[in-house]
Amino acid sequence: MDLNIKINDNDHLDIGGADAVEIADKYGTPVYVIDEDRIRENYNRFYSAFSRYYPKFKVFYACKANTNFAVMKILEQEGCCIDAVSPGEVYISKKMGFSGDRILFTGNNVTNDELKFVVDQGAVVNLDSISALNRLAEEVNPDGIKISFRVNPMVGAGHHDHCITGGVMSKFGIMDVEAVEAYELAKDLGFEPIGMHSHIGSGILDPEPFKLAIESTMDIAGKVHQDAKIDFEFIDFGGGVGIPYTPDEKVLDINKFAQENVNLFKEKLKEYDMSQPTMYLEPGRYLVGDASVLLVRINSVKQSYRKFIGVDAGFNTLLRPTMYDSYHHIVVANKMNEPETQTVDIAGNICESGDLFARDRKMPNVEEGDLLAILNAGAYGFTMSSNYNSRLKTPEILVHNGKCHVVREKETFEDLFNKQHIPEHLQ
Ligand code: LLP
Repeated sequence: MDLNIKINDNDHLDIGGADAVEIADKYGTPVYVIDEDRIRENYNRFYSAFSRYYPKFKVFYACKANTNFAVMKILEQEGCCIDAVSPGEVYISKKMGFSGDRILFTGNNVTNDELKFVVDQGAVVNLDSISALNRLAEEVNPDGIKISFRVNPMVGAGHHDHCITGGVMSKFGIMDVEAVEAYELAKDLGFEPIGMHSHIGSGILDPEPFKLAIESTMDIAGKVHQDAKIDFEFIDFGGGVGIPYTPDEKVLDINKFAQENVNLFKEKLKEYDMSQPTMYLEPGRYLVGDASVLLVRINSVKQSYRKFIGVDAGFNTLLRPTMYDSYHHIVVANKMNEPETQTVDIAGNICESGDLFARDRKMPNVEEGDLLAILNAGAYGFTMSSNYNSRLKTPEILVHNGKCHVVREKETFEDLFNKQHIPEHLQ
């Protein structure tokens, strides 16, 4: 099994050298627990796999996966760069120490004010449309402003329809056939178009779609290089490297993956007589997904028409199972070596029928008070959480060398309601 699971001598789940049971007892549940070392390991494994074959290589962390300050700081220290998709993500990246030249902004359907804000922060803007190019030209003096375009590589893949970002149904990027025109227009307007970006989707464990995307993106880049006379400083192959979520899924052989994709990249550089642009990749999930678990407490066991194990979090805390029908492996953190003896549904505390973390899941015999760990919760866990049902967002704990640090406090009812005002006539 390729899932990131460690068990300590007490048969409890170990998270970065800390005992999950002690964490839950001390900080309460639900709680997200982040393993610092795992993020560093993931980053270094990824970075060294590619840079070994192509030293002009940079990792742009797609921080939509997890914008916790600590996570951002860890990756900043490692030398990572940032892929940001909103002014808020640019703002937090700057605050966490990333200089503008380490931030690539890949927004879509952004306003003029947002474009201006991002450029003022020094980030490189990756434009999603010719409309955005023209609107940016109205907002800033284009002289010396470096931009790139997101192109649709006409290849799409992903763990769910919602997570496929290339192909004819995708709202993202400019069409391959308008790429030359877009780059020429950018030059005419006075910008410095220096990059190209594509993105095919998210949560992909099959290496084949990436190869197709590298080929098609490089074909577009090659044509732009030749026809619009652009010398690319970077070409960015957007995210999507998956992680195993089920016990059967295999971890991607990242070295082989890197070697094959770099070879294709180099062949295409040669074919189109291009110099050596920096290769960017922008993983989100791969860096942080398996570095966190969500700890939840069983508060009710109910035999109805089915057996329901009820826990103290819901889809407001971790949306992926409800939104994408995603599988998250769940273990009993306080008795890790018990055999699976039953099939149950694991339900949350939100007042909706779709609020299930798992359906028909094999589990050991569990009781009220037992602690469950929902694995692989580090990517698109907290960042997609909400206050639905007026539930409080969860705290987050960072584990470093076995020591716990509260990196996000639990919300209070005050936090929930403090932006509302009651007009005089209702008081
Ligand atoms: N770059 C861009 C421009 C993206 O839009 C994304 C993800 C990434 C990079 C990173 O993709 P990753 O390496 O994490 O697969 N909420 C969904 C995932 C949506 C991803 C959207 N874009 C989920 O929970 O699976």
